[in-house]
Amino acid sequence: MKIYSANSLVGEIEIPGDKSISHRAAIFASLSKGKTTITNFSVSEDCRSTLQCLERLGIEIEITGKRVVIDGKGKRGLSKPSEDLDCGNSGTTMRLLAGVLAGQNFESVLSGDTSLSARPMKRISMPLNEMGAKVETADGQPPIRIAGKYPVTPISYDLPVSSAQIKSAILLAGLNGNGVTKVRNPPTKTPEPPSRNHTELMLRYLGARIYERFLETGDGFVHEVSIDGGSELSARDIVVPSDVSSSAFFVTAAIVLKDSDIMLKNIGLNPTRIAFLEVLKGFGAGIEILNAREVNNEPIGDLRVRPGELLQNPNRMELRGDIIANLIDEIPIIAVLGTQLNGGLEIRDAHELRVKESDRIKSVVENLKKMGAAVTEFSDGFRVEKSELKGAKLNSYGDHRIAMSFAIAGLFSSGETEIAGFEAVNVSFPEFFKVLASVVK
Ligand code: S3P
Repeated sequence: MKIYSANSLVGEIEIPGDKSISHRAAIFASLSKGKTTITNFSVSEDCRSTLQCLERLGIEIEITGKRVVIDGKGKRGLSKPSEDLDCGNSGTTMRLLAGVLAGQNFESVLSGDTSLSARPMKRISMPLNEMGAKVETADGQPPIRIAGKYPVTPISYDLPVSSAQIKSAILLAGLNGNGVTKVRNPPTKTPEPPSRNHTELMLRYLGARIYERFLETGDGFVHEVSIDGGSELSARDIVVPSDVSSSAFFVTAAIVLKDSDIMLKNIGLNPTRIAFLEVLKGFGAGIEILNAREVNNEPIGDLRVRPGELLQNPNRMELRGDIIANLIDEIPIIAVLGTQLNGGLEIRDAHELRVKESDRIKSVVENLKKMGAAVTEFSDGFRVEKSELKGAKLNSYGDHRIAMSFAIAGLFSSGETEIAGFEAVNVSFPEFFKVLASVVK
């Protein structure tokens, strides 16, 4: 698969269902009483991993394309699996299921592929052990062995990093606690949730008693989420919005390639996920939100994207501090965009990028250098100057977002770009190349 420079992107683009929301829909439907129909479920390898794990835990699932029907057995209805639960490449599957399994009275093992097996899990095992489950890792990494306990002991936990996965794991364990479990995020300057809040919104939609408040401290605002372990979940159908993080690749291409005009329908527009769109719009990009509405507590709308004035903006784009957690998955594509900005780009406070599906700071810096970009690496980010990109032989580092970001970089480059390990896109967006090819002019 080779990529060449393009003039524009034109047309309507269908983006797959949101990966974060699909994982949660499948897991929470399994813990609900009754049947749930999920529509626009993400047809990705990651979300397949979640479904397979749930099947191994005794849940009956019917899959017809993007429609998934789950026969939920209630929050304590899972059964002991006869083999390991293989989470594939998916950190969300592993961390959220660890929280669920902490509160089930049986033993289970969560394992994953080589990339997932190198990711940090102590951040999950520590709070879950505090809650009374026995959770062991291999020196802080997968596999995770869990001897669950019902009921778990409720805790009040201060998160060391703004992470929706850790927050969700503790809340899901707390759903089987004998009292109220509280999770507090690191302080932020403004009273806004510092990481994606799909867990909170969906658990509430399904009837859980889950509450949020901001505590004012000397350091700013602490977002606290609490869940009452006496809550039960009742099945309700779920519509999954299309994935705004997957849309980011097309949004970026349409902003850079002149005469572009694309329409992306039914995109999830949860405020904790659209920092990327807001930053680009603030910089002059031609992004319009149309038909804004809500489905199962999640904001959703259509996006029309044209170049606007972004490429005329003389300033450097500087991203650091609280905003980083809410655009963490978009940073690889923002890095590519940085090569096209007059003032370049600097990203700091993004240490978490080092422990994603690949070390994304290294993956981005190495690929940009191969394309001839001027880039400086920092321990917590990088600086990119405006650069003319040359097509090159690149590597996905087995990371879906790196593969897709650099396919887009290929559209802005002279010559030919080839990405080894491009099949990593299957983790979130198997149709990516086909969809891209259908709108490139
Ligand atoms: C996710 C949370 C984020 C994100 C990941 C999906 C989720 O990770 O990077 O792609 O669905 O909760 P962290 O919670 O570790 O920041």
